[in-house]
Amino acid sequence: MASDKLNHLREQKEKALLGGGQKRIDAQHKKGKLTARERVELLLDEGTFQEFDMLVQHRSRDFGMDKQKFYGDGVVTGHGKINGRLVFVFSQDFTVLGGSLSEAYGQKICKIMDQAMKVGAPVIGLNDSGGARIQEGVVSLGAYADIFLRNTLASGVVPQISAIMGPCAGGAVYSPAITDFIFMVKNTSFMFVTGPDVVKTVTHEEVTFEELGGASTHGSKSGVSHFTTENEVECLNKIRKLLEFVPQNNMEDPPRVENSDDVNRMDESLLSVIPDNPNKPYDMKKIITAVLDNGDFLEVHADYAQNFIVGFGRLDGRPVGIVANQPASLAGVLDIDSSKKGARFVRFCDAFNIPLITFVDVPGFLPGTEQEWHGIIANGAKLLYAFCEATVPKITLITRKAYGGAYDVMSSKHIRGDVNLAWPSAEIAVMGPQGAVEIIFKKEIEKAEDKDRAKSEKIEEYRTRFANPYSAAEHGYIDEIIEPQQTRPRLIRALEMLENKVDSNPRKKHGNIPL
Ligand code: HXC
Repeated sequence: MASDKLNHLREQKEKALLGGGQKRIDAQHKKGKLTARERVELLLDEGTFQEFDMLVQHRSRDFGMDKQKFYGDGVVTGHGKINGRLVFVFSQDFTVLGGSLSEAYGQKICKIMDQAMKVGAPVIGLNDSGGARIQEGVVSLGAYADIFLRNTLASGVVPQISAIMGPCAGGAVYSPAITDFIFMVKNTSFMFVTGPDVVKTVTHEEVTFEELGGASTHGSKSGVSHFTTENEVECLNKIRKLLEFVPQNNMEDPPRVENSDDVNRMDESLLSVIPDNPNKPYDMKKIITAVLDNGDFLEVHADYAQNFIVGFGRLDGRPVGIVANQPASLAGVLDIDSSKKGARFVRFCDAFNIPLITFVDVPGFLPGTEQEWHGIIANGAKLLYAFCEATVPKITLITRKAYGGAYDVMSSKHIRGDVNLAWPSAEIAVMGPQGAVEIIFKKEIEKAEDKDRAKSEKIEEYRTRFANPYSAAEHGYIDEIIEPQQTRPRLIRALEMLENKVDSNPRKKHGNIPL
């Protein structure tokens, strides 16, 4: 090969590596942000990145764009490995025209998404962009729509992960929103449909970028983001960690790892987790971490709807999805936000063959006009629907309360729970003793000379008859009442038994989940 040809290639590639140039790279660093290429290097196993379309350029001529050309056109795309497994990645380069999305840029992203679908591998998008490239007009909008369509078609086929590492505004937010998980970085990332200036003009509200669409806002208030991270390095490491629990695509099982934790480990601490007073809170995470392999739990949506817990862990090396009520927050009641949070997580696990382990301590659905007017009926139904349609192995443990409709919803036997267990402290009934007695013994209590005494006697009678797991066990709704310290070995045996479970739903185009 003639050396001038090689030199020409090398020069072009060197230019491409510099993105928008050293000055803009320095500006990016000054903002506390890494460049698109630095992020890819940190995300992937060392030396595994194979780039596509490094020499692509935009084809626009309007507004002097023919004089503003950069190799790669503002997005770095390709494939590499994470923990030795193939992933596709696109990383938006803010140093090139603010990372704005052109026709050529959109085509680069679509190309790797199409490849990922053909070979069945996850797609990770690192977002840092000023949105549609204004100079390209409608062509840029078309390019966004091409991506949205691919996000939708890939949903449930390959895992899709978005990290927001800078601006993500306008219609651009809808690509991450369709993906399975959104990560945000505190202080340097924001997402909104319209920014603070438009908000001020339209609603007269004064709000900062951070308040309107920063990582904390979306991690705790809106629930748009699933993981809030302190900095970019933590964000990229957490994406790597998340991928340890998920399969490459919907045809594979999640990756089992070698387990170093005793499968027969009894945990005596579980005997004292539930307080003697049934109205006292306790932390469900203590139970979750006590039973998982090495206490390793990756919580999803940790700051949003904290009365419900979702996340990933392993039992004897097998990845599982954990779904649980949290009595330490709002008594573990089910409300609109927790139902949406739970439903989305259950559907992700079901789509990607991840067994569900459900821990139940729920007093019911949250009453009140606020909840009713905002649709607790339709939203609560999302969680019910998600559990009903899930065909992955489903194991349920009732630790304490399982009252009313919430008992049915929380992966009960009746909606295809495979193994349903309870601790002796379980209370499985239509409602709590106090409420029940006030309804069914109303007249008797009114007639009694000592009303308080009559009421407490009836409460005790109801508690003895119903506030326990035995009635449910008599009917076979609970397969076994176990002692708390036996929980880990019992869950592991159930999961092992269910390893080759096959179940299906009736053939249909798709169901109509109450969105
Ligand atoms: C073209 C853009 C751009 C864009 C930024 N730039 N956004 N070029 N199209 N959308 C360029 C700037 O001109 C500038 O170029 C460089 O990128 C860096 O931008 P700055 O403004 O200097 O950076 P910063 O101060 O950090 O502000 C970042 C920003 C701001 C908040 C993102 O740039 C901004 O508000 N941009 C416009 C956002 C926007 O309205 N986008 C369209 C939204 S509508 P020079 O050469 O001067 O360095 C949309 C619809 C999507 O996206 C629809 C999908 C269906």
